[in-house]
Amino acid sequence: MILGVREHIGQNQRYAHSVRVARCAALLAQRHGLDSRKARLAGLLHDLARLYSNDRLIAESEARGLPVGTREREHPVLLHAPLGAAIAREKFGIEDDAVLSAIAKHTTGEGEMSPLDCAVYLADSLEPDRSFPERAALWELALRDLTEATRETVRLSAERRARKAAAAEARASAS
Ligand SMILES: [Fe+2]
Ligand SMILES: [Fe+2]
Repeated sequence: MILGVREHIGQNQRYAHSVRVARCAALLAQRHGLDSRKARLAGLLHDLARLYSNDRLIAESEARGLPVGTREREHPVLLHAPLGAAIAREKFGIEDDAVLSAIAKHTTGEGEMSPLDCAVYLADSLEPDRSFPERAALWELALRDLTEATRETVRLSAERRARKAAAAEARASAS
């Protein structure tokens, strides 16, 4: 394991999540004939910037020339993925593009996703501490088919987000 990851993350709970994601990603990689060492590394490092404040996420992303658009300004948490990849390179010496890509793409599951990107995205969404009802079935699917599992997981999390937004709106208009 890489030294200093726990210190950088700065919170035991988030570090424990990262270790679980590393294990799940390695397992999915093994199942699907991918490089499990790369999967484990990306899993361990995927949330390096997850606990940064919104201001810090924006400032550090801009300082590195990472794209910060309207969507990122509305939801700065999205930046923790690409910024995390930049920090993995700078601070932990990761030069492997496949590992950096999996870190950079772990939040949305959108766009062009390599099998390793999918494995890390799914490990993050489906690690054992996640508690939504479809988790176990999606994990079973991920063991069989990374692409299908990614599609389903992206679809379900979009649904969950929409439900939450609708509920928040309903609460706001009721008050
Ligand atoms: Fe994350
Ligand atoms: Fe995560």
